[in-house]
Amino acid sequence: MAGATLAQAQRGGPGGGGPGGGGGANIPSLRTVAVPVPPNLSTYVSDQTALVALGKAFFWDMQAGGDGRTACATCHFHAGADHRLQNQLSSPVGLSNFPTPNATLSVTDFPFHQLSNPANNRSAVTSDRRQVAGSAGVVHRNFFDVTPGSTVDDGSDVAGEAAFSIGGIRTRQVTGRNAPSVINAVFNVRNFWDGRASNTFNGANPFGASDPAANVLAWRNGALVREQVRITNSSLASQAVGPALNATEMSYDGRVWPKLGRKLLSLRPLALQQVRTDDSVLGALANAAGNGLTSTYAALIQAAFQPVWWSAPATAETNQMESNFGLYWGLAIQAYESTLISDATRVDQFLEGNRTALTALEQQGLAAFTDGGSQCTQCHQGAEFTGASYTNALRANANPGNPSDAGFFRTGVSQMAEDAGLGGNDGFGLPLFTPGQTGAANGTFKAPGLRNAEFTGPYFHDGGQATLEQVMAFYARNGDFPAGGNLGPGIGRIRLSGADQAALVAFVKALSDDRVRYERAPFDHPSLCVPNGQVELSPGVPQPDTSDPRFTLTALDRFALIPASGAGGNAAPLQTFEELLRGTGADGSRAHAMTQSCSPQP
Ligand code: HEC
Ligand code: HEC
Repeated sequence: MAGATLAQAQRGGPGGGGPGGGGGANIPSLRTVAVPVPPNLSTYVSDQTALVALGKAFFWDMQAGGDGRTACATCHFHAGADHRLQNQLSSPVGLSNFPTPNATLSVTDFPFHQLSNPANNRSAVTSDRRQVAGSAGVVHRNFFDVTPGSTVDDGSDVAGEAAFSIGGIRTRQVTGRNAPSVINAVFNVRNFWDGRASNTFNGANPFGASDPAANVLAWRNGALVREQVRITNSSLASQAVGPALNATEMSYDGRVWPKLGRKLLSLRPLALQQVRTDDSVLGALANAAGNGLTSTYAALIQAAFQPVWWSAPATAETNQMESNFGLYWGLAIQAYESTLISDATRVDQFLEGNRTALTALEQQGLAAFTDGGSQCTQCHQGAEFTGASYTNALRANANPGNPSDAGFFRTGVSQMAEDAGLGGNDGFGLPLFTPGQTGAANGTFKAPGLRNAEFTGPYFHDGGQATLEQVMAFYARNGDFPAGGNLGPGIGRIRLSGADQAALVAFVKALSDDRVRYERAPFDHPSLCVPNGQVELSPGVPQPDTSDPRFTLTALDRFALIPASGAGGNAAPLQTFEELLRGTGADGSRAHAMTQSCSPQP
C-alpha cells in the first residue's frame, strides 16, 4: 500500500492555503488534502452518486441489525460517534471484570482512573474502574435464518451467560472499546483503534489479504465464477464489513452475507425511519408519504455497480446479488463515509490565512499545540491531526517497522495486559503489525484525529475521560500507566501549565465544523431510534420484553429519538457528552439531548 495513488483534491483548494499558509507551524488546511480513493474502483462501480446513496441508506438502516433495530448509526449517530450514558459499560479486551449491566454513567465516574493529586500520576489512586465506556450493540442471540419481509431475524436468546444479563434476563452487549467518529476516518490508512481494518478490501471481512478466499461471484460469459477481491485505499470498506455480522455489534451469532442480503433485498430501505425530502443525498428518493425510500436496495445496487457483479439470473442454488452483499455493503458505506469530511473549521480558515478566524486564546492553544513542551504534534500531525493519515504514514521516509511512523502510540491510557492494541492478531491469527523490534506494537493505539472532539466524548479507547479538560490533565501528568514499555515518543516529557491546558482545550474546540455542530449537509441524516438503556422495574429487576415469543430472555429497551435532519441542519447545536452527563441542554437548547422517546415500529 506504500505509494498508493491518491486522487487529486476534489474540493476547491483555497488560495493562500498549503503548509504554513496561515502561520500554523506548517499545518495545512484540511481542504488542501486529497481524499483517498481506491485506484481500481471502476472495475466494480459504475455510478458514484448511486453508490453514496446506497451507502447512506445502509449506514442508517436499523433493519440491518439482527433485531431489526440496530444500524451502524446506532453507535455513530452523534458527530459520527456515540454519547449515550446508559448501558455503555464493558470490560477491557484482556480482562473479564464485568461491570454492572445497564449502569448509567455519572459525572463522578470520570475520569475512570482517579488520583489524590490529578497532576501527579504517582499519587495515591483513589478509584480505578478498569472498565470501558463502549457502545451498546445487540443482545446475544443465536442466528437461525432470515424471514424475507421481516425486519427481525429468526433465532434464540443465548441463555446462561453472566455477562450482559440481569438475573438471567439479557441486556444489550457493549463493545470492549469506545466508538471513534466516522467523520474524517477516510484519511486513516488503517481503521479501528488497533488498525485491524485492512487498507486492502477483500469483499467480505476486515482482514484484507490475510483471507486467501475468493469471496465474490462474477457473471462472465454466461457463467458464474468465484473471484478474489483486492481493493486498496479501502480501510473503510474493510471496516464496514465487520460490525454487520458481528454478534456484539449488530448481528445474531452466525449470520452470513447472503442472509443479510436476502433480508435487506426484501425490505423497503429505511422503512422504520423518516427520511427528509431535503436530505442532501437521499432527499430525491425519500418517501414523502411515510417512512423510508421509494427505491429498493436491488435498484440502488444495479445503479451503483457494474452488471458483472449482479446480473446473473438467480437459480435455486445461487443468488449472485445475495452472495455479493459484502462487496456492495463495504464499498457503498466507504463511499458515503468518504463524503463525511469536516474541513470548514475556524482552524482551517485561520490556516488558509484568515487571521481573525481564531480568538487570541485559540491562537495561544495552536501555539501550545505545536510547541515542543506539549509534544502534541509528535503524534497528531498535519491537517488530519493524526500520524495514521495517508499524508504521514505513507510518507517516503516512514519506517515500516515502527508503529509510531504508522501513527500508533502508547500514551499510558491503560495497562499493557488489558488491551494489546496494534500488538494483537487479526481474525486469521496473523499479527496486525510486524515491528522491527519484537513487542514494539504492544499496547499502541491509533492516534485519533482531533476534529469535532468537542462532541465525541468520552475520550480514549477506553472512554475513560469525560471532558477535554480531563484529557489535558492526563497529558500534563504524563499518562496514567506509563510503566510497561513502548511509551511515547514524548509522553514523559510533556510539560503543560494550567494556562496551556485551557488554551489547548479552546484550540481543540475550534476544530469543530459548524456543519457537524448543526448537522448540516453532508452530516444530515434519517431519523433513528437509539436504544438508550433498558427498563428496570426496580434496581436489578429488568422488565422482560414480551413482544416476540421467540425471545423471552430479553430486557425491554428504552429508545431515544434522534430526529431526521435535512441539508439545512438543526436550529440547536449538538449536545456534548459532558452536557448530557450534567443534564445541560435538555430544554431543547441542544440537539440529541436524548429526551424524546421513540418506537421503532413501522
Ligand atoms: C455496537 C456499536 C457499533 C456499531 C453498531 C457499529 N460500530 Fe463502528 N465502531 C464501534 C466501536 C466500539 C469502534 C472501535 C472498535 C475498535 O477499534 O476496536 C468502531 C469503529 C468504527 C470505525 C473506525 C474509526 C476509526 O477511526 O478507527 C468506523 C469507520 C466505524 N466504526 C464505522 C461503522 C460502520 C460502517 C458500522 C456498520 C456497518 C458500524 N461502525 C457499526 C461501535 C459500533
Ligand atoms: C505519543 C503520542 C501522542 C502525544 C504526544 C499526544 N497524543 Fe493525543 N492521542 C494519542 C493517542 C494514541 C490517542 C489515543 C490513546 C488511547 O485511546 O489509548 C490520543 C488521544 C487524544 C485525544 C482524545 C481523542 C478521542 O477521540 O478520544 C485528544 C483530545 C488528544 N489526544 C489531544 C492531544 C493533545 C492536545 C496533545 C498534546 C498535549 C496530545 N494529544 C499528545 C497520541 C498522542
